[in-house]
Amino acid sequence: MPDSLLRVLTCGSVDDGKSTLIGRLLFECGSIPDDVMLALERDSARFGTVEGGVDYALLVDGLEAEREQGVTIDVAYRFFETPRRRFILADTPGHQQYTRNMATGASTADLAILLVDARNGLLDQTRRHAAIASLLGIRSVVLAINKMDLVGFDQAVFDRIVAGFDLLRTRLGDLSVTAIPICARDGDNVTGISTRMPWYRGATLLSSLESAEPPSRASGLPSRFPVQYVNRPDQSFRGYAGTIASGTIRVGDRLSNTASRTEAKVARIVTMDGDLAAAHAGQPVTLVLDREIDVSRGDVLAADPPPMLADQINAWVVWMDETPLFRGRAYQFILGTKSVIGTITDITNRLDIDTLREIGVRELGLNEIGRVAVSLSHPVACEPYDTSRDLGGFILVDRLTKGTVGAGMITDIRSGRTNVHWHRLDVDKQARARLNHQKPAVLWFTGLSGAGKSTIANIVEKQLLALGHHTMTLDGDNVRHGLNRDLGFTEADRVENIRRIAEVAKLFVEAGVIVLVSFISPYRNERMLARECVETDEFLEIFVDTPVEECSRRDPKGLYQKAYSGQIRNFTGVDAPYEEPLDPEIRLRTLEAPPEDLAGQVTEELRHRGIIA
Ligand code: ADX
Repeated sequence: MPDSLLRVLTCGSVDDGKSTLIGRLLFECGSIPDDVMLALERDSARFGTVEGGVDYALLVDGLEAEREQGVTIDVAYRFFETPRRRFILADTPGHQQYTRNMATGASTADLAILLVDARNGLLDQTRRHAAIASLLGIRSVVLAINKMDLVGFDQAVFDRIVAGFDLLRTRLGDLSVTAIPICARDGDNVTGISTRMPWYRGATLLSSLESAEPPSRASGLPSRFPVQYVNRPDQSFRGYAGTIASGTIRVGDRLSNTASRTEAKVARIVTMDGDLAAAHAGQPVTLVLDREIDVSRGDVLAADPPPMLADQINAWVVWMDETPLFRGRAYQFILGTKSVIGTITDITNRLDIDTLREIGVRELGLNEIGRVAVSLSHPVACEPYDTSRDLGGFILVDRLTKGTVGAGMITDIRSGRTNVHWHRLDVDKQARARLNHQKPAVLWFTGLSGAGKSTIANIVEKQLLALGHHTMTLDGDNVRHGLNRDLGFTEADRVENIRRIAEVAKLFVEAGVIVLVSFISPYRNERMLARECVETDEFLEIFVDTPVEECSRRDPKGLYQKAYSGQIRNFTGVDAPYEEPLDPEIRLRTLEAPPEDLAGQVTEELRHRGIIA
């Protein structure tokens, strides 16, 4: 068996002839079993679009249909080999969500085939694919210009597309590009030289795949072992399971845990087939160390020089969600086996797909690629993506829907907070709270404008004051006159509005105060962030539940009137969303009881929870 392996990413849509091309490659390299081949011939006669011949697209599209019916997977892998090399073909479906599929499939690829329909030339999608492939570290591209038969095998058409791509390439860094005119349906220049394009003297697609230089793999890098889980079946065995990300690990090697800054030697390398003396990048193993050190899931065991431990990074992000990426929003940040909370602290530039130049922006929309800064809740062992795809690539996951919304590549590791140390104070929250004879807490009132948040919060505060408690109220309308004077009502501004208030509320809790927060706070995401700023028992989400019809009937500030008549925009409940709490600690239905009673419910709950005596 040939031992050289090339991972290939195929980019393009079904219309470009991608299925046909893949089907033909698999067929010509003998990866199609006889019975499948028979069925293919039969189906081609019945459903095929190739008169009198075999329609290879049916082979791949059959799999595609299966894929649509069953579990949806982002990337399908196909294997084939020639006497010279083995290939893994990552095929990403060419529909709407191509960016996500592309970003995930591309991160392990060595070479990308960009398929172009000769009739259409370079499309936005081709440019986007090229840009993503390049960002993801793919340095070799085969530009397969397909359907040459439909442009009369005209060299001028081919030359024009190649020249267009050349312009792009100069802006994509050192990308090596091989352009090949093909007709995938008939096999021209796929595995055999075409007689119909004598003007083309280059290699066939297959032979250029066979001779493509594979990038030097992770084996040249120092050893990195992200720990997937700690395997401790009984007292006598403690092993760390995972896949070696880079380098070679040998028994006797000294590895350190970047997170705990402790080190030990490798005592055993355990696998399903017995112990090994050494294991390489890509191999799943369980490591046993010669002494007990502090290691948990998500840590990285590393040889010298160790990776950085960072909580502030800059990265390129490919954004894959309908809802744009905003500054201030928090996501689950998953890098290797480690998962922490990542808050977007800045969005600076977006890559313009037409020109491949960077443009200053404040948010990223679906399929856009931009530069962001991320602040992490806990330090993570990482490296620039250029150095290590494993420790430099990450994904962003929506914490509520659990959907993957972004794929990122670390460009810089900033020291940031690592140099600003947390200063421990002798007088702490407990001491301050004791003096106040109360447990500090955040009472987070959320609801539509005019729902009654401030009215109820006001009564609660008066009741607490009468009982001798120390309180503070943060009210949207008031805070927007000072601290948040710079913010409006776009989604991005509201995200930032709530982020700041969550931090301020936390400071008041540190001061031992019961803080009443009264903001519309329309997004679940930021309310969750506010909740996480303090201890679990210190946060009460109070949903002031008033239907929008009732709010607009009351309309205390005349704003609904203005919103309906179009005088103000982005008004919550009218033309901006409000995401109702799913599981609030307290729900106050204002249609059912007067504000005094509802305030009473809140103080009762505070007593019940031991926040007040
Ligand atoms: S939030 O959405 O960012 O939480 P916040 O509670 O600070 O909003 O401010 C809401 C108050 O601002 C409303 O009670 C209303 O008085 C005023 N306001 C002005 N424009 C808008 C708008 N477009 N949407 C909602 N509230 C608005």
